[in-house]
Amino acid sequence: MSRQHFLRLAAGAGVLLAAGCASGVAGGNISSEGSAGSLRRSLVPLPEPFRVRLPIPPVLRPVRTDASTDYYEITQQAARREILPGHLTEIWGYNGVFPGPTIESRRGRRVVVTHRNRLPVPTVVHLHGGRTPAEHDGYPTDTIASGAARDYVYPLDQPAASLWYHDHRMDFTGPQVYKGLIGFHVHRDDHELSLGLPSGDRDIPLMITDRSFAADGSFSYPSLDPSLMDTPGVTPDAASGVLGDCILVNGAPWPVLAVSNTRYRFRFLNASNARRYELALDPGGTFTQIGSDQGLLSAPITHSTLRIAQAERFDVIIDFSACPIGSQLTLRNLNGSDGTANVMRFSVTSRASDASVIPATLASIPVLKPSDATITRDLVFARDSMNGMAMWTINGRPFSPTRIDATPRLGTIERWRVRAQNVEHPIHVHLAPFQILDPGPFDHGWKDTVDLDNGGQADLLLRFDGYPGKYVFHCHNLEHEDMMMMGNMRVT
Ligand code: C2O
Ligand code: CU
Ligand code: CU
Repeated sequence: MSRQHFLRLAAGAGVLLAAGCASGVAGGNISSEGSAGSLRRSLVPLPEPFRVRLPIPPVLRPVRTDASTDYYEITQQAARREILPGHLTEIWGYNGVFPGPTIESRRGRRVVVTHRNRLPVPTVVHLHGGRTPAEHDGYPTDTIASGAARDYVYPLDQPAASLWYHDHRMDFTGPQVYKGLIGFHVHRDDHELSLGLPSGDRDIPLMITDRSFAADGSFSYPSLDPSLMDTPGVTPDAASGVLGDCILVNGAPWPVLAVSNTRYRFRFLNASNARRYELALDPGGTFTQIGSDQGLLSAPITHSTLRIAQAERFDVIIDFSACPIGSQLTLRNLNGSDGTANVMRFSVTSRASDASVIPATLASIPVLKPSDATITRDLVFARDSMNGMAMWTINGRPFSPTRIDATPRLGTIERWRVRAQNVEHPIHVHLAPFQILDPGPFDHGWKDTVDLDNGGQADLLLRFDGYPGKYVFHCHNLEHEDMMMMGNMRVT
């Protein structure tokens, strides 16, 4: 179906709804629980929190290696998994699991991943945070047809960081990610490994998502077209974003992790479509942040809460050494209410020795200045409407795969002033890591996603190096992204 056809269809739906609705529901300018979006209630009873164990996604083994490269294979397939006790939920998963298997890489070695698509729809794989040649970056229209396969080649010539991979199909990223097409990619380098940070089974990825469940136990996502084949978009009430009432960590509802009285490194990823969290430890405790989206900070930062928007990563140390054996620390979400106010629990069950350290200096990060920038661009992320139907735009324009919105040059620094209107927008730029000028407490280090409050703005200094080609930047509220809040840059 053509974009024009969709625009006409959306406009038509808006007209119908505007006639039937008293309020601005078709406009989709809704925030709740600190996030752009409307909450969907599950139609099955949700389990008691803190009953199931935290799953750790399996680490994928290479099928072969040679002098320079590790080769992996992943099959994208449907599976039925017991997420809620007593119910089977159909997921679409990398190797049939949600979260997908974790890929671990080491700077200096190339990674090639062969993806086979055994799903009924086209898919696209994007390595979020990867500095990847354009033809392997997962451009939204560069799809793997159902039944086909392709190789993604990742040079990974970049510092250690908590990366992740996810579906990026144009117009359908929201529903396809919601079904489970998300995995971690943990990238390491010699420098990070020399620091003595907690490692091994004390280095744990934590993927937070929210989901709602239909009466039959399936994921409940308000697609206009449940087959996800032709018609993009969600029902008008969900146009600001889809918020679930069940919080999953690594795919399990409100799980528990048994820990020893030592330091742990947790790699927090907010992989939710629309939900933002403010995490806190109850009855108390702090997070020592050591890394951001794109890798280590220059020095650790202690936080009493962590505000994490969609797609952001926070690498933190939690030190359980002062916790008595038998005690518990609950991770809460200060933005949530009822069930969504809980995330997971740590249960201190054993004593162990701990040789880990948190060095006072983690990495040397050059500080970019506005005078380094060769050009300044102003980008406004806002809602527009087509006959009452919400449409999310950048500088008033909906995404078009053929229009180039920016033309950065390799080897330069650009300054982008981004502003959010109507609701909150987390802005993500492919390829180019950035620093935030006058950073807030959660904005330090090299970032690839910046969280903007409603009305908020940020001044980004982006470093373009790596590879030429066409890349996207977009809002990482996946409903906004699918409803066209995306632009193109041609890097030369
Ligand atoms: Cu995580 Cu373009 O996305
Ligand atoms: Cu990305
Ligand atoms: Cu947005």
